[in-house]
Amino acid sequence: MAYMTKEWNGIEFFAIHDFHHIELLTGNAKQAVHYYRTAFGFEPYAYCGPETGIKDAVSYVLKNGNQFFVITTPLSSSHIGSDWLKKHGDGVYDIAFSVDCNLEAYESCLSRGAKGILKPTVTEDEGGVFGKSSIKTYGDTIHSFIDSSKYNGLWAPGFEKLQLPKLDIKHTSLIRIDHIVGNVGIGEMEKWGEYYEKVFGFSIFVRFDETDISTKYSSLKSIVLRSKNWKIKLPINEPAQGIKKSQIEEYLEFNEGPGVQHIAILSDNIIESITTLRNNGVDFLDVPDTYYDDLEKRIGKIDEDIEVLRKLKILVDKDEDGYLLQLFTKPIEDRPTLFIEIIQRKGSKGFGQGNFQALFESIEKEQALRGNL
Ligand code: FE2
Repeated sequence: MAYMTKEWNGIEFFAIHDFHHIELLTGNAKQAVHYYRTAFGFEPYAYCGPETGIKDAVSYVLKNGNQFFVITTPLSSSHIGSDWLKKHGDGVYDIAFSVDCNLEAYESCLSRGAKGILKPTVTEDEGGVFGKSSIKTYGDTIHSFIDSSKYNGLWAPGFEKLQLPKLDIKHTSLIRIDHIVGNVGIGEMEKWGEYYEKVFGFSIFVRFDETDISTKYSSLKSIVLRSKNWKIKLPINEPAQGIKKSQIEEYLEFNEGPGVQHIAILSDNIIESITTLRNNGVDFLDVPDTYYDDLEKRIGKIDEDIEVLRKLKILVDKDEDGYLLQLFTKPIEDRPTLFIEIIQRKGSKGFGQGNFQALFESIEKEQALRGNL
């Protein structure tokens, strides 16, 4: 049964201000950077690697609006990221949060049962003091806590300005990370929901199950956790029994375990975003043309021209607070794992549950092509 609440039932053990960045591990960061620039309009920001004194990995920091993606490639098999990549392929390793104190955040989480992965560290250069610590979450994904309030340098100690040849990229109207979704195994969703409630003090504000979203083949259960200030929204999915393999099960098989399924990026003009991204060659999920036939009847009056939405294949959903527009890319690597969502909110705080049915049918067509249905 679908359920949504605006009430905050959590406890703010320590303030989590916002997403600080996400870090992706990739086999070849130099080429991945080109993709995120040309396809999504990210701009070069900072870099670390052998040239800056880091011997075993390179990291490129890219910026688009108020969001930062860090693209990292290990340079040796002994780097922790090499085993990660061997198992999962390219994907999201770290969902990092801005906090007041990385030590306080780490100790607070560990006191309630979290497992540490990077003990609180402080690094320093002429830019000031930079604090970081990390804990584990589902699969081999981690959360880092970043305290950069006393750091006035570019990004972090060890990084320099990223200089790359200029590209003529159109504005993509992408502003910030809206939410980040994790897929976990059958029967694990509640456990991870409780983890975020207990360790972070987050609150579950959306819940839906197979009675809300299912096709003949595929269904899923989902909960959404949020921070007190609404800046962090983390949906968690688990597969529900279907006749054939669900898209979540396909993900879990190819990712070899739980991990981040999609990054949703907020747009302030989704028509401009999708037009530009399509021109840039981004491959989006197909939407059946019939989806638009009774859209106005389902959604009511909206600001956008439905014929433009039909042409760009943008999806619309509504709840009692307003509506949202969204569209999902196909997987952005060869394993059918991570994809990107573009979303614009016009009042709605939802996630497009009303669209999932139409989308599932589209995803299943893709799955069948891969022989995984
Ligand atoms: Fe989403």
